[in-house]
Amino acid sequence: MVPVDAHRSPTQSVRLAPNEKVCSQHNECHAKGRLHLEAARLTHRLSIAPMMERTDRHFRYFLRLITRRVQLYTEMITTSALLHGEPARLLAYNEAEHPIGVQLGGSDPAELAHCARLAHQYGYDEVNFNVGCPSHRVQTGRFGVCLMGEPELVADCVIAMQEAVALPVTVKTRLGFDDRDSYADLTRFIDAVAQAGCTTFILHARKAWLQGLSPKKNRNIPPLRYDVVHNIKEDFPHLTIIINGGITSLEQVKEQLKRVDGVMIGRIACHDPYMLANADRQIYSDKLRALSRFDVLKHYIPYVKRQLIDGVGLSLLTRPILGLFQGQPGAGDWRRYLSENAHRASAGLEVIEQAATQTKVRADRTVMRYKFSDLRPLNNDSIQSVPRLCGIRGN
Ligand SMILES: Cc1cc2nc3c(=O)[nH]c(=O)nc-3n(C[C@H](O)[C@H](O)[C@H](O)COP(=O)(O)O)c2cc1C
Repeated sequence: MVPVDAHRSPTQSVRLAPNEKVCSQHNECHAKGRLHLEAARLTHRLSIAPMMERTDRHFRYFLRLITRRVQLYTEMITTSALLHGEPARLLAYNEAEHPIGVQLGGSDPAELAHCARLAHQYGYDEVNFNVGCPSHRVQTGRFGVCLMGEPELVADCVIAMQEAVALPVTVKTRLGFDDRDSYADLTRFIDAVAQAGCTTFILHARKAWLQGLSPKKNRNIPPLRYDVVHNIKEDFPHLTIIINGGITSLEQVKEQLKRVDGVMIGRIACHDPYMLANADRQIYSDKLRALSRFDVLKHYIPYVKRQLIDGVGLSLLTRPILGLFQGQPGAGDWRRYLSENAHRASAGLEVIEQAATQTKVRADRTVMRYKFSDLRPLNNDSIQSVPRLCGIRGN
């Protein structure tokens, strides 16, 4: 997408229901380049975690057909990738994806400031700073979770990004790492970064072990400590505190919202994206009904057609829909059919149509109403209008 005018207001990310209000200083806060706390809290009530090789633009577009309100994030993009790679490709997204934050990984304040400016030019609503990734690669590059040991440097990075752009700069981190995992270490870190002006912290509710555990194991083995995140909220009531880790249902989200300002969910959104179908109604009090699974699919197909024309491989486009029928009869067949057939060089839209008609998911009565080949590819204007369709038709 073409970079938008740098004057684009970050308020565009805040979509308020008629009965929702922001405080009278809202505009003033925006003039200072800070999304007001109340508005930030509202937007962040539910968010989808940044996930490498998962939350790419296709997945995010697909999620927007299920929920219009949850906050989305890009995968982590490193400053070196943006400085030495192709920012136009790395930062491309569809207008339909708003509200969307970019997640940056790095530790050089000037480089991060430069990348934050790029994100602003491209119209992102938020810059999220990764201080939680435990992979070996990020340790050698001195960023990710090991930065928790350098709170002053994180503060400098936050200040540099905030001075560079009129966008909220948020921090995603963990409870600690290795032997730096005491509550005092965590509060010192949050205090230092909050004093630099960061008002929103996303806390993955477990520590990380830098030696001996792979990133995957670091997402499962260190025990979840929701109590620590709840204590942080009590000790820093003025900050927006978002809890992350192991939350898998809207019921759990609502339970957590009694203790914290927001919830971020990761893996479950890939495994069972349709669990978000009632998020707008239950979490944001929206009135519109969700689309059925097949209507979501129907609206995704023209997007797939457009992307195929643009040269995107089918398997990248089917990855988001693998879990669409999770929990339904035939879900395994559907997933298997797509996994086995979408990566072939000649694979086209017919693979999805065959998956829908030849596997047991066809049991859904709505499927035969659509002939995928009749659904025309979207042009850019109609792509942007698609999310507005969400909720217009009921199940
Ligand atoms: C495949 C995968 C890739 C991930 N990539 C990132 C990333 O780029 N940046 C980040 O901050 N966290 C990343 N994470 C961690 C998630 O954002 C989240 O913190 C973690 O999965 C815990 O949430 P969950 O239990 O709801 O999945 C990744 C997780 C997974 C499963």
